[in-house]
Amino acid sequence: MASSSSAVLHKPLGLLAELTHRCPLGCPYCSNPLALDRREDELDTATWARVFNEAAALGVLQVHLSGGEPGARRDLTEITAAAHAAGLYTNLITSAVGITEKTVAALADSGLDHVQISIQDSEASTADHIAGYDGGFARKRALATEVVRLRLPLTVNAVMHRANIDHLEAMVDLALTLGASRVEIAHVQYYGWALTNRAMLMPTRAQVERAARLVEELRQRHHGRIVIDAVVPDYYARLPKPCVGGWGRRSLNVTPAGKVLPCHAAESITGLEFWNVREHPLADIWTSSPAFNAFRGTAWMKEPCASCARREIDFGGCRCQAFALTGDARAADPVCHLAPEHGRVAELAAVHSDTPYVYRRM
Ligand code: SF4
Ligand code: FES
Repeated sequence: MASSSSAVLHKPLGLLAELTHRCPLGCPYCSNPLALDRREDELDTATWARVFNEAAALGVLQVHLSGGEPGARRDLTEITAAAHAAGLYTNLITSAVGITEKTVAALADSGLDHVQISIQDSEASTADHIAGYDGGFARKRALATEVVRLRLPLTVNAVMHRANIDHLEAMVDLALTLGASRVEIAHVQYYGWALTNRAMLMPTRAQVERAARLVEELRQRHHGRIVIDAVVPDYYARLPKPCVGGWGRRSLNVTPAGKVLPCHAAESITGLEFWNVREHPLADIWTSSPAFNAFRGTAWMKEPCASCARREIDFGGCRCQAFALTGDARAADPVCHLAPEHGRVAELAAVHSDTPYVYRRM
């Protein structure tokens, strides 16, 4: 039996502040939980300011102001100013719908450090179809132009799936045209809402292999002009990703109503007990809340992870994916070729459907 490390307490580096679940878009791969927090339950400005101060005291360096669409918050400028005043590097993650040019200028004045805009495709018609929102693509272009004009660093976030993966080169070209310094090629993660649309979104193996070769070519072609971040999508990988850098190790998420989660999808695992910033200081939640301690370290692991040489490298993969695919959050992520359920991943990756997306409507 392998020795298992104790749950060494690291300092968190990043905080994802989910300011609201409200969002005008209807993406079929929405990463919001299935049960959404209501507007009237959202934390107020003063509580967010307290959370940012507590986060900074805990060691957090960066805050990602996210949602839903953070632009739905009327107090986004005050929230940004509070995060900046707490000494945090502030990154706005937005669909660009709901943030005007005037708002982004006010955010820059409030200390915003970085902007990340998601794009659904390289052309307006297909991008708006995927997002389920007419006119969204034009808004993204306009906001990106303004962000660059204000000299804020811009990252373009491209979520890939079967309908757009063959447009990867055009999407990177678009990011360059917009003046982004980085493009993040992220593949759909199949938990929560995306599970409903898995067969409609799943790329083919041939598409994934072509895309991987193209990313290498594009990195060389655009070296020094744009950073291209990309990983192999889970269902076609042999080894899992170290999801969220390890559970309770690097980051925390605060939901619109104040629950603190070890990852954005943690509520999809049933039976976990989450604490709320309304009732507990953030430091206590980080060190002592049952959800954070559930999968810290390696003592919770079962075989094959418990005796695997990679257990401190990938931490057994993604807990949410293990739960979604096996019903057991302590199981090895089935993406791993050593996991007993690995064959199931290949079976699911082969299921494709061209039925219309089930859009996420708030
Ligand atoms: Fe990672 Fe577990 Fe697979 Fe080892 S057996 S590579 S720890 S998921
Ligand atoms: Fe929750 Fe990976 S998304 S651990």
